[in-house]
Amino acid sequence: MSELRSAAWYEGNDRNAYIHRAWMRRGSPSDALDATKPQIAIANTASDLTPCNAHLDEVAESVKAGVWAAGGVPLNLPVVSLGETQVKPTAMLWRNMAAMAMEEMFRANPIDGIVLLGGCDKTIPALLMAAASINLPAIVIPGGPMLTGHFRGEALGCGTDVWRLSEEARAGTITNGQFIASEQSMIRSKGHCNTMGTASTMAVMAEALGMTLPGFAGIPAPDARLLSMSHETGRRIVEMVAADRKPTDIMTKQSLLNAIIAIAAAGGSTNSVVHLLAIAGRLGIDLTLEDFDAAGSGVPVMANLQPSGQFLMDDLFRAGGVLALLSQVEGLFYRDPITVTGDPFVSSLGISPVYDDTVIMPRDAPLMEDAGIAVLRGNLAPRGAIIKPSAATAELLQHTGPAVVFDSIEDMRVRIDDPDLDVTADSVLVLRGCGPKGYPGMPEVGNMPLPRKLLEAGVRDMVRISDARMSGTAYGTVILHVAPEAAAGGPLAFVRTGDIITVDVKNRSLSMAVSDEELQARGQSPASEAAYAAPVRGWAKLYVDHVLQADQGADLDFLVGSSGGRVSRESH
Ligand code: FES
Repeated sequence: MSELRSAAWYEGNDRNAYIHRAWMRRGSPSDALDATKPQIAIANTASDLTPCNAHLDEVAESVKAGVWAAGGVPLNLPVVSLGETQVKPTAMLWRNMAAMAMEEMFRANPIDGIVLLGGCDKTIPALLMAAASINLPAIVIPGGPMLTGHFRGEALGCGTDVWRLSEEARAGTITNGQFIASEQSMIRSKGHCNTMGTASTMAVMAEALGMTLPGFAGIPAPDARLLSMSHETGRRIVEMVAADRKPTDIMTKQSLLNAIIAIAAAGGSTNSVVHLLAIAGRLGIDLTLEDFDAAGSGVPVMANLQPSGQFLMDDLFRAGGVLALLSQVEGLFYRDPITVTGDPFVSSLGISPVYDDTVIMPRDAPLMEDAGIAVLRGNLAPRGAIIKPSAATAELLQHTGPAVVFDSIEDMRVRIDDPDLDVTADSVLVLRGCGPKGYPGMPEVGNMPLPRKLLEAGVRDMVRISDARMSGTAYGTVILHVAPEAAAGGPLAFVRTGDIITVDVKNRSLSMAVSDEELQARGQSPASEAAYAAPVRGWAKLYVDHVLQADQGADLDFLVGSSGGRVSRESH
């Protein structure tokens, strides 16, 4: 093994080495700070305010045991955590802050390798962005989905059934009391959302990137095997430090493309686009929206999981798990990328049987033949917009209708249920001011609710367009991530109610019947000034001043790339 990075703190007989060692001893074994002992940080996003990750302290104990057993020294390092359901105005505003803080703490401390403990939506992307930028040996533990709760005898999908039941209550097909009663049953156990929402998608992403032990993604949080695998992960990171196996050895362009293929096969979340683009940016890899379309389109959806399908994550585990699922499309994956083990990712495929082919669909009868993420362009989205066809209504993937425009989420909430709103099932709902700069933070509001009068008339989906994101648990014909966003002066800012909009997913087009001259004239009108107040201090100001658009992953411009694990100047 070459000299450990931590030796820059602990080696030597001078005053500084004395200080670094003395303050760390506190009862640890006498050889814990020897030059041969890898110091392993456990980047722990456990927090009572991140309920999906609240069990990670227990997981960290299993990691610690594994690190000790393999001859390393485990060090719990609590890092910024983001509870998707709790954090206002949106957890996405803080993803880059979390990643920046993680990266800096990894660099500032005497560590040689990192175990990344995540779960809830933004935590795994932030951890991977930080790991990519510091490029020390790192391995992910996905915290695992929760068990399925039931309400009145029916399984509940976290998130997905909140959207469905709340729309049913608004439509009057169930009472509001019944809707609220389901709240007690929604969250059955420890773990993250049990649909193929963003958290499950991020676990699949980490697995397909090669950043987990093979077979880790999708183990339910309460399952004893989660702790066994966590122990093994502790052992593995010590071996990775000895082998100097770093994120840049594992996360290559081809492994990013493998992740896109895996997410498509799983029917995963649209949020994977901004997260994979941001991770690629940290790695210095040129990944574009077109790569998502090229790699993901044509991949069949093999998982019959909500929100695209019927079942939930513990059904997937029972049916054979994520590797059995990905084995159904084994031939599509690039064969060179390796995992944290040093072995090819594809060597983990083709060996896990499928035990229930109503959950993991047979190769010749997928849930959907052609899924992935479709990238649309046109005079409404010159730098692209995305849609997840598997979660949309097939008949609406080609649609022309008049725009009904909302300038903000507040504007939409005030007017959407107005009986006098001039809207029909053919209208195209447009929401702006919800992009990275405009909100700020690009919240999950793109799947805006349908007008009550249309719900009552039986309408359950409409074309919706915005510069926002949407929850990975949501569904509908929802076009997201329009770039440039309205607050950055994109054409979305100049759409008017009544403009005719055409969506043509087959031909990858999103356009409005407004001439270039007319658009230019609208852009020069005083009324086109951005209608939002830019933040004046703190993180929000830094964010708005530097955030990139959605087609570049919405990272901060000065965080793109890597600063490595360079040890900085002495502190005393
Ligand atoms: Fe945490 Fe869904 S809210 S994973």
